[in-house]
Amino acid sequence: MPLDIHEERILILDFGSQYTQLIARRIRQAGVYCEIHPFNMDEQAIKSFAPKAIILSGGPETVTASNTPRVPSVVFKAGCPVLGICYGMQVMAQQLGGHVTSAVKNEFGYARVRVDTPCRLLQQIRDHTENDGSSSLDVWMSHGDKVTALPPGFTCSASTSSCPIAAMANDKHQFYGLQFHPEVTHTKQGYHIIERFVTDIAGCKKLWTAQNIIDDAINNIRDQVGSNKVLLGLSGGVDSSVVAALIHKAIGHQLTCVFVDNGLLRLNEADQVKQMFADNIGINLIQVNAEDNFLQRLTDVDDPEKKRKIIGETFIEVFDETAERRGDIKFLAQGTIYPDIIESAASTTGKAHVIKSHHNVGGLPKTMKMQLVEPLKELFKDEVRSIGIALGLPDEIVYRHPFPGPGLGVRIPGKVTKAYTSILRQADAIFIDELRQAGWYEKVSQAFAVFLPVKSVGVVGDKRRYAYVVSLRAVETVDFMTARWAHLPYDLLATISARIINEIDQVSRVTYDISDKPPATIEWE
Ligand code: XMP
Repeated sequence: MPLDIHEERILILDFGSQYTQLIARRIRQAGVYCEIHPFNMDEQAIKSFAPKAIILSGGPETVTASNTPRVPSVVFKAGCPVLGICYGMQVMAQQLGGHVTSAVKNEFGYARVRVDTPCRLLQQIRDHTENDGSSSLDVWMSHGDKVTALPPGFTCSASTSSCPIAAMANDKHQFYGLQFHPEVTHTKQGYHIIERFVTDIAGCKKLWTAQNIIDDAINNIRDQVGSNKVLLGLSGGVDSSVVAALIHKAIGHQLTCVFVDNGLLRLNEADQVKQMFADNIGINLIQVNAEDNFLQRLTDVDDPEKKRKIIGETFIEVFDETAERRGDIKFLAQGTIYPDIIESAASTTGKAHVIKSHHNVGGLPKTMKMQLVEPLKELFKDEVRSIGIALGLPDEIVYRHPFPGPGLGVRIPGKVTKAYTSILRQADAIFIDELRQAGWYEKVSQAFAVFLPVKSVGVVGDKRRYAYVVSLRAVETVDFMTARWAHLPYDLLATISARIINEIDQVSRVTYDISDKPPATIEWE
């Protein structure tokens, strides 16, 4: 009987906090499987999930209003430990008979909490020892409301001067509440607190390791696919590359990868991917040159959402045609990852706005003939990277900056032409080359050039040059949901700008994008 790595699992009920995915990542980091579900998950579904513990996330609402989210009552009767974080603590306190008061003033930022009566969750976890021998922790607070009366059976285990009940505990029932956020890295001992909860208190074994995840995925792929053939759209990005390596390991030559040159790739990308996978790893790889098809369909289309839709649909058509030509392919593999699933669920339940339709999420046509194989759909990006490394993929693939499915198509605002893609490809290659040489490629999370279809006047040598503008974009981010523009050194920007203008005749000006996300997004479209 193979090991069931999902057997010991934690349930996270999401009340809408921007940090909910971080809770899940910390638990996974502690070696335990967990899933995020909406706070109003069906009671029967909670029972069938059979969690070893439940975590209630933070959220933007206030429990002092009557129509705001509450915890399904089964949670406190499930007989398993429960940890409420921020709103999760407040809602726990209120539903179990305590009291929550609306804030006069919000508390946001670092705080030092004193651990008054150590509970099982916090005992022996400390950042400082105070003069009186008590311990304290450096934590991240972000709240308005606070618990002002404990529910029966609870003790106050930590406090600050502005938040007298910063943590509460009922060791007998193993119910805990934290007003601060252990999931964010600013809370120095946050990881240890979460690890304590899931391993010592909930008693979960550390089964969620890279090697176990790989073995489990391989078994599942074999079970799902049998002796059938699988087709994978390989882009050379980390997700599809890890899917390729995993499926190849599971079923060898039953896997065929299709690399579509859609005319929206970076310089020499097709050759690099071919070299890596067909030549080094021995994967069956078909290269389809579909540049004319894609560019022709994009002619005169300038609406970003329409462009994405056309590119997504054309991809699927190319896969379908390739599969049909080969006759006997039943499965299509995809590099969908867990955040894609959470975000598309949030957008279908109306909890999040669709900012951009990412085309590998929910964008598959109903008429698609193949069934999906999605071996990464339970994993976060950092987990995908760890298993990529464990599978022996080189760092240059595993730590490559993400590249969007619609490729250069969303880096050319408005209409896309072959001439524009060619200019952009050269500028992007110069930018990345200089970043690598200066040791900045690894320091930023994503960097690329954007082609701006506006002309400006320049003077090169003694000649006037009336040519296009290229904008450079480099960002630092952990989760790509928020990002800070990277503060690249001026000298480096100067070198890059000079090279682009000197080496590409069609460019007369280079700008640097200094917009954070939010309010801007990372890609320009
Ligand atoms: P935005 O522009 O939404 O980008 O701030 C966040 C991250 O997602 C990538 N991105 C995409 N990836 N298909 C993808 O596979 C897409 O349609 C897509 N659009 C944006 C973007 O490069 C960044 O890493």
